[in-house]
Amino acid sequence: MSLTRHDFLKATAAAAAASMLTSLEAFATNVRAKKIRIGIIGCGSVSGVYLPHLSKSPYVELVSACDIILDRAKKRAEEFKIPNHYPDITRMLAGAPFDLLVNTTDMQEHEHLNKSALDAGKHVWSEKPMANSYKAGRSLLDLAKSKNLRIWGAPAVVNSPQFAFMSKAIRDGKLGKVSSAHAHYGHLGPTWSAFFYEKGGGSLPDLGVYNLATLTGLLGPAKSVVAMTSIVTPTRKVDNKGTIKVEAEDNAMVLMDHGQGVISHVQCGFNYFDPYGHEGTGQQNHTVSIWGTHGNMGLVGYDWAPFGVDLATHDHEQPERFVPDAQDYVWQQGASVIAQAMVEQTEPLIGAEHALHVLEVIEATRESAATGKRVDLESTFRWPVV
Ligand SMILES: NC(=O)c1ccc[n+]([C@@H]2O[C@H](COP(=O)([O-])OP(=O)(O)OC[C@H]3O[C@@H](n4cnc5c(N)ncnc54)[C@H](O)[C@@H]3O)[C@@H](O)[C@H]2O)c1
Repeated sequence: MSLTRHDFLKATAAAAAASMLTSLEAFATNVRAKKIRIGIIGCGSVSGVYLPHLSKSPYVELVSACDIILDRAKKRAEEFKIPNHYPDITRMLAGAPFDLLVNTTDMQEHEHLNKSALDAGKHVWSEKPMANSYKAGRSLLDLAKSKNLRIWGAPAVVNSPQFAFMSKAIRDGKLGKVSSAHAHYGHLGPTWSAFFYEKGGGSLPDLGVYNLATLTGLLGPAKSVVAMTSIVTPTRKVDNKGTIKVEAEDNAMVLMDHGQGVISHVQCGFNYFDPYGHEGTGQQNHTVSIWGTHGNMGLVGYDWAPFGVDLATHDHEQPERFVPDAQDYVWQQGASVIAQAMVEQTEPLIGAEHALHVLEVIEATRESAATGKRVDLESTFRWPVV
């Protein structure tokens, strides 16, 4: 059997939409694409971390760079030897062909750019959030399925070996009956772009999203949410717009009910003094803690860049440190891992349904904060993740 590369990509996506892994494995026996052609849109801060990783991947061919600030696209194209660059999505989609859009633009731009890419027959890896609302995100996933395409959303926290260790410890009953968890992530806020503070931005989709993905990934989909949010710093000075009014929450406390009595808490914000800074280097404290009737464990460092897991149990009360090495996990690996999975026709751990669930939690958090009420959730995802 011989397939064109285009047919192959369409076919693998169709298989995934239908029955995921088994169908993909069937394709694997027939044909293999060697590289996934990538167009990256949004050549700002995070592209400077994504592109070094993508450019080293044997599964990736970087085809196009795009930014509404054309100089940024041109600079990234030169830096990473990307043959084409464009000033907008329309010209990018009409230009050199590619398979996967990597969207690293402002949070508020993701939804319409992801939709344009799907409409044009491209697969999508999107920085968080996948869309501006849960409902719009669900429509994007439906659109992708209807066109035999795939869409995935950051973060990539479920890929870390520490996440795998914690997930297995829970499943193996090391903690006994799990009851409670806490996670936190904050710093003093980005200084370069206004979108983090404008409507559709906020510390929840920028920072809390990691902890929400980790805790729902470990404890299961949340059934309902109770929350408070606030704005602590009403104006900010940012590089691209000067002094701006802060419109999105810069302080959030979220309580999630995971069912069967398990309750967790996430706090995040842009007003957290943290001596370890944005990068978290050297952070030795636990930022994710989980308790059960037989044991507890704490993730050392942030979940997007963990340094180990401390586990104390009924049988070994002195905490022991496990997985002190990130192995080949880095937070910026998301798009590269997806390209590899597409080439190898395997189903990645990162899933669109999980990203959508986290988006629904964020939306429910805001609703609960505004109304003072508990908000039920409808979304779910394949769990356990690992
Ligand atoms: N910077 C980080 O450390 C970091 C880490 C993880 C995730 N993220 C996420 O990555 C995304 C981008 O963040 P950033 O810090 O790189 O922001 P940034 O402001 O540095 O870069 C965003 C870029 O997107 C471009 N852009 C905006 N709208 C566009 C459009 N319609 N078409 C083409 N280009 C467009 C902007 O001109 C800008 O160059 C956000 O979702 C953010 O939450 C950032």
